[in-house]
Amino acid sequence: MKKNVIIGIETSCDETSVALYVNNKFISEITTSSMQIQSNFGGVVPEIATRYHQNNIHKIFKELIDKNNIKINEITHVVYTACPGLPGCLHVGTCFALTLAELTNSKIVPINHLYGHIFSGFIDKDIEIEFPMIGVVVSGGHTTIYYVKSVDEIEILNETQDDAVGEVLDKVGRSLDWKYPAGPLIDKLFDPNKAVIKLVKNNFSPQSPFSFSGIKTAALNYINNHKQKNAQFDEIELTSSVQKIVIDDVVNKVKYWLKQKQCDRVCLGGGVSANKYLRYELSKIKLKQLVLPNLKYTGDQATMIAYYGMLLINSKNL
Ligand code: KG4
Ligand code: ZN
Repeated sequence: MKKNVIIGIETSCDETSVALYVNNKFISEITTSSMQIQSNFGGVVPEIATRYHQNNIHKIFKELIDKNNIKINEITHVVYTACPGLPGCLHVGTCFALTLAELTNSKIVPINHLYGHIFSGFIDKDIEIEFPMIGVVVSGGHTTIYYVKSVDEIEILNETQDDAVGEVLDKVGRSLDWKYPAGPLIDKLFDPNKAVIKLVKNNFSPQSPFSFSGIKTAALNYINNHKQKNAQFDEIELTSSVQKIVIDDVVNKVKYWLKQKQCDRVCLGGGVSANKYLRYELSKIKLKQLVLPNLKYTGDQATMIAYYGMLLINSKNL
């Protein structure tokens, strides 16, 4: 294998992150986030996130290479998140990556950051990647099931038509005046015995596209109706009911596609992949392989970008 010094860059949302792989080995990652500032606003404000990237990307990149004694001209590849994400945020990362690649005469590798999430479960683990797999990405902006035939043959089987799972949890939490992002707290307080509120009439069907705007609106109406009447309600009953409905839907659709594709491997990624109930429900499916990311790789970070870039670089001899 050729010698390589790979820089990963991730700026799709509120994390500004850079990572370094040398000769296909993880060396270091530095991540800083505007989450603390964003939490005062109940969600990510694109302009704040963009300016945060702009003010920090060059500093953490310099820190990364200085700390690891890398000379800028040793860089062989610059892998960066080209899509999807907030346009201003992606723009900052793209300009930085293109300039760096140009100055160092290195190869530029633009990637879809959701593919980084798909393979994030393999980072730091000594397990072989075997295909095909059903890839499941659940985050604040995306809920997608993929058929993964190889590192770069990835087909969408189902994706949300409106809200993503994380977005539903965060919006319900916001209406309850919980801190952004509410997903982790909803997970922590989840009680299956309290998931008793019937917010939607019919269960979702496994073959239909994901659509969570109905359940989100029903939950927000439930909160508003109680507030208007000054009526008490159990917040954990509500959040547990919402979490159970959306996660059960994801799991049922994963089961459906496993059967359709006669596949017995699943890899999970994205911020919501940290969810304990989701992990537990997936672990109950009879599979050859269930690949779950270490918690530090569930959210957005540049390690998964550099890692996926490295897989591409090696498989396509870039
Ligand atoms: O992947 P990510 O960091 O950002 C993108 O959306 O791309 O995902 C963030 C999302 C938020 O909606 C957050 O509430 C959710 O992941 N999240 C969780 C948990 N940890 C983070 N949702 C449910 N359970 C968790 N433990
Ligand atoms: Zn993401």
